[in-house]
Amino acid sequence: MTQYFSRRRFLEGTAAAALAAPVAAAANDKINVGFIGSGGRGYYLMERLYARSKEVAAVAAVCDAYTGNLARGVKRVETMGGNTPKTYADYRDLLADRSIDAVFIASPEHLHCEMLLDALKAGKHVYCEKPLAHDIEEGERILRAAEGVKNVVQVGTQNRSNPVYIKARQMVEAGMIGEVHFVRAFWYRNSLDDAPAWRYAIPADASEHNVDWARFLGPAPKRPFSKERFFQWRLYWDYSGGISTDLLVHQTDITHFVLGKTVPLACMASGSILRWKDDRDCPDTMSVVLDYPGMQLSYSCYFGNDHYGYGEQFMGNEGTIEVLNRQTLNFYPEKFGGKAPARVAARGESSETLPAGDARSVEAHIANFFAAVRGQEKLIAPLEIGQNAAISGHIATLSQAKGQKVYWDANTRKIRTA
Ligand SMILES: NC(=O)c1ccc[n+]([C@@H]2O[C@H](COP(=O)([O-])OP(=O)(O)OC[C@H]3O[C@@H](n4cnc5c(N)ncnc54)[C@H](O)[C@@H]3O)[C@@H](O)[C@H]2O)c1
Repeated sequence: MTQYFSRRRFLEGTAAAALAAPVAAAANDKINVGFIGSGGRGYYLMERLYARSKEVAAVAAVCDAYTGNLARGVKRVETMGGNTPKTYADYRDLLADRSIDAVFIASPEHLHCEMLLDALKAGKHVYCEKPLAHDIEEGERILRAAEGVKNVVQVGTQNRSNPVYIKARQMVEAGMIGEVHFVRAFWYRNSLDDAPAWRYAIPADASEHNVDWARFLGPAPKRPFSKERFFQWRLYWDYSGGISTDLLVHQTDITHFVLGKTVPLACMASGSILRWKDDRDCPDTMSVVLDYPGMQLSYSCYFGNDHYGYGEQFMGNEGTIEVLNRQTLNFYPEKFGGKAPARVAARGESSETLPAGDARSVEAHIANFFAAVRGQEKLIAPLEIGQNAAISGHIATLSQAKGQKVYWDANTRKIRTA
């Protein structure tokens, strides 16, 4: 079994008392932001930050382990923000910069825990990309470290800031689909033979001279330099939980939001590498059944056909709410073979598509983070929410790896396999 499942490398203790107090941002000062990771996501988060929160925050520092992405991040700030940010090779040096109020962590999954704990210690507010951490224990450790601290921490599960899901939740609360005991969720993708899933392009200039391999590895097992692992980290257990923590967590999280659930009770999952047979660890095909109190969620993901795209179907006994591609909300009342009660029959079918769904959600999620830093709004995705979503992903990864049902005990906050 890979390191992902055997690793128990606990990071140093973090007593709340030892933490630096976060800087209170005055309402008319811009919040100074540092980016840790300016790869695909970090760059995109910067764009979304400037699109909506330019008056509220400024990117003052960027840190990245590949000089090409560092330079791209700096350029993004210069063109969209009009300033040249400070650059850092080591995120700890960025955290030591007292002019930085908040950090965005957009590094690979296996680095989140260490970076987040260090950011809390340094008194920074944090927007941390999902999944919260690389395994359940890391996430629990973050929750414990954050107890009683004043730092604002938003987890990057932006679907919660998407009006389409907010509407879906309101419809469920209004009783439009009756009781909901079953949900289907799926994410299907495809690509041509010469563009295998998650085999992102490796920059032509990348080498040991401009890629900081040791800092990328961080707490992961030591290995010789590998461009594939650095730029395609999602394919390897040492750095990623694969489909479960990269994709599924978005959809379990939003199911929790729409239906008012918190964590699953158990999971049975099966995953295989069927479409992209290269040296990857993580499956390209996965089916997952998650049991919740009073509800079951059936999830599937496959990287060899994208006909059905991305969606969640909340199947109530009086109707169905279907959200497709995070943008379209379809509502279908149950027909009961032509014998629907009048109150159900009166609910007409509807379909609504919102413009630029995910980009706007990310902008709103970031804006909410800054408003929470200023004490003006309640945080939409605090740590517990991020950990709940991550738990569903981690038990799916464990179940498929062990070939066994995995249970989550919410009282002891531990997993068990029987
Ligand atoms: N919320 C969403 O919809 C969403 C979408 C995409 C990615 N993500 C998340 O964002 C995170 C980053 O994913 P990505 O697609 O941008 O990956 P990426 O590989 O494109 O970017 C990661 C960046 O981190 C840098 N890096 C690696 N080690 C570092 C270190 N020690 N210090 C500083 N920088 C370091 C890399 O050089 C790279 O630029 C992941 O957690 C991923 O799950 C979230």
